[in-house]
Amino acid sequence: MLPAGAALNDHQNNREPGVLAPKETLSERAQRALQERPNISVRIRIFFGLFLVFVLSVAVILFSLTLIRGIRGKMIFLEAADNLRFEIQGARRFEKNFFLYGTNLNDALEHIQVARTMFEENADNVKDIIGSGSYEAFIDHLIRYEELLHSLMKKLESEGVDFSGKRMVEADLRGHGAELNAIAKRLTDRERSAIDRIFTLYGRTLVIFIVIFFLLMIYLAYFFTHQILHPLTRFVGYTQRIARGDLSPILPARRYKDEFSDLAMSFNRMLDELKNHQEQLLQSRKMAAIGNLTAGIAHELNNPLNNITITIESLQDDLESMQLQSIRKLLKDIEVQTERCSSTVKNLLDFTRMEKPSFVPISVPELLNATVRLIKNEMDTQGIDLAMDVPETLPQIQGDFVQLQQVFVNLMLNSIQAMEGGGRLTLLGCSVDDGSVRVDVIDTGVGIPASQVSQIFDPFYTTKEVGKGTGLGLTVSYSIIQKHRGRISVKSDVNVGSTFSVFLPRINSERSGAE
Ligand SMILES: Nc1ncnc2c1ncn2[C@@H]1O[C@H](COP(=O)(O)OP(=O)(O)OP(=O)(O)O)[C@@H](O)[C@H]1O
Ligand SMILES: [Mg+2]
Repeated sequence: MLPAGAALNDHQNNREPGVLAPKETLSERAQRALQERPNISVRIRIFFGLFLVFVLSVAVILFSLTLIRGIRGKMIFLEAADNLRFEIQGARRFEKNFFLYGTNLNDALEHIQVARTMFEENADNVKDIIGSGSYEAFIDHLIRYEELLHSLMKKLESEGVDFSGKRMVEADLRGHGAELNAIAKRLTDRERSAIDRIFTLYGRTLVIFIVIFFLLMIYLAYFFTHQILHPLTRFVGYTQRIARGDLSPILPARRYKDEFSDLAMSFNRMLDELKNHQEQLLQSRKMAAIGNLTAGIAHELNNPLNNITITIESLQDDLESMQLQSIRKLLKDIEVQTERCSSTVKNLLDFTRMEKPSFVPISVPELLNATVRLIKNEMDTQGIDLAMDVPETLPQIQGDFVQLQQVFVNLMLNSIQAMEGGGRLTLLGCSVDDGSVRVDVIDTGVGIPASQVSQIFDPFYTTKEVGKGTGLGLTVSYSIIQKHRGRISVKSDVNVGSTFSVFLPRINSERSGAE
C-alpha cells in the first residue's frame, strides 16, 4: 500500500496531562521522565535469576556429596559393628561348647580379645552412637568376661574339668555374654536406623529442591514474558502508531528504568529527527506546491485569456467585413474561454475558501447513493458497471453533506476518467477498529505509477489533457477530509486499477474522543 496523504487527524497517543516546565517541549519532558526513574537493568535481572539457579544447583550438589560421604562412613562403621558382634557371638559359641562338650577355651578368648581391640579402635564413634554410659558398661562386661575366661582356664589346669563352682562361673559368663551381645546389637540397630534417617532426609530435601526449582522456573518464565516480551509488544505498537504518522514521544510505562528505556529514548530521538525531516520535507513540498500552483494558475488562465485576446483582436480587425454568423461563433468562443477561466477560479476558491462546514449526522449509504445519482449519466455513457456494498447498518458520521458529496464525486469522476472504454467501479463501506467508517472507491482503470502517487494531491497536478482537468479535484477532496478529521489513502497498480480509501470518524467515536 502506498500511503498518499499522510494521516490527517492529529490525535496523539501517550500524551500525559501535566505541568510543563517553561519552554520544555513534550519530547524533552518525555526524555527526562524516561531518564529519571530508578535503574533496574534487564541484564542484572537475568544475571540474578541465572545466578540463583546456579547457587541452587551448587547447593544441591554439595548437599548430596555431604550426605553420600556421611552414608559411606556409616556403612563402613556398620560393617565394623557387624564384625564386632560376630566376634562376640563367636566367643560365646566356643564358651558354650566348652560347657557342653569340654572343648578348648582358647578360641573363645581369642574372639573376645579381637572384639575388644575393634571396640577400642572405634571408641569415639561408639560413644557418639550409644553414649559413654553404654560404652563404659560394654567395656566392663568385656573385661569381666575375659577375666572369667582366664580364671576358668586356671581352674581347669589346677582342679580338672569338674572343679567346684563351675555352674556359678557358667551363669556369670552367660550373663556378661548376653549383655555384650545386647549392646553390640543396639549399636548396629542404631547405625542402621541412622542410615535410614539420612536416606529419608535426602529424599525430602530433594523434593524441596525440586519445588524451589519449579518456583524459580515459573519466576523466570514470568520474567521473560513480562519483562521482555511485553515491552517488545509495546514497541511493536509504537512502530505501528509511528507508521500511522503519530510522531508523539514515548512516555515511561513503568516505574523503573532498564534497557527498554534506553530503546525508548533512542526512539524519541529518532522521532525528533523524523519530525525535523518531515517539517523540512513539508516545507519543500509546500514550496513546490506554491510553484506548481502559480504555474498552474498562470497556465490555466493564460491560455483562455490569450485565446480571448486573439479572438477580440480579429473581431476588431474584421468586424465590418464579417458575417453575423462568424461574429456569433467568435463570441461563443470568447464565452467558452471565459467559462474556462471562471471554472478555474471557482475551483481555486473552493480550495482556498476556509468555509466552516456545517456538520450534521450523515448516513454513509444515503450519501453514496445521492452521489451515484449525480454521476449516473456519466457512468452510462462511458460503459461503467457499478457494484456497491455499503451496509445500511453502517454507523453514522458527522459531516457536511455537500462537501462530502464533492469528495466522492471527485473520486468517482477520476475513476470513470481512468477507465476509458469501460470498466467496473466498486464502492465498499465498512466500520473499522480505530473508530472510523471506511469507504473504498475501487476502479479497474489505468492505475497510477508509484513515482506519481506522492504528487496526485498537489494542486494543479494533472495528467489530463488541457481543458479536461484542472488538477484540483484531489487537492480539494484532501482538504475537505482534513476538515472532517479524517484521512485518505491510495493503493494503485498500473493497468490493474486504483483504490482510494476514505476514513471518516464515526459519531460515537468522535464524541468519546472529545471527552
Ligand atoms: N482513479 C484514478 N486512476 C488513475 N489516476 C488517477 C485516479 N485518480 C486520480 N488520478 C491521477 O491524479 C491526478 C490528479 O487528480 P485530480 O482529481 O486532483 O485532478 P484531475 O482529475 O486531473 O482534474 P480535476 O481538477 O478536474 O479533478 C489525475 O490527473 C490522475 O493522473
Ligand atoms: Mg479529478
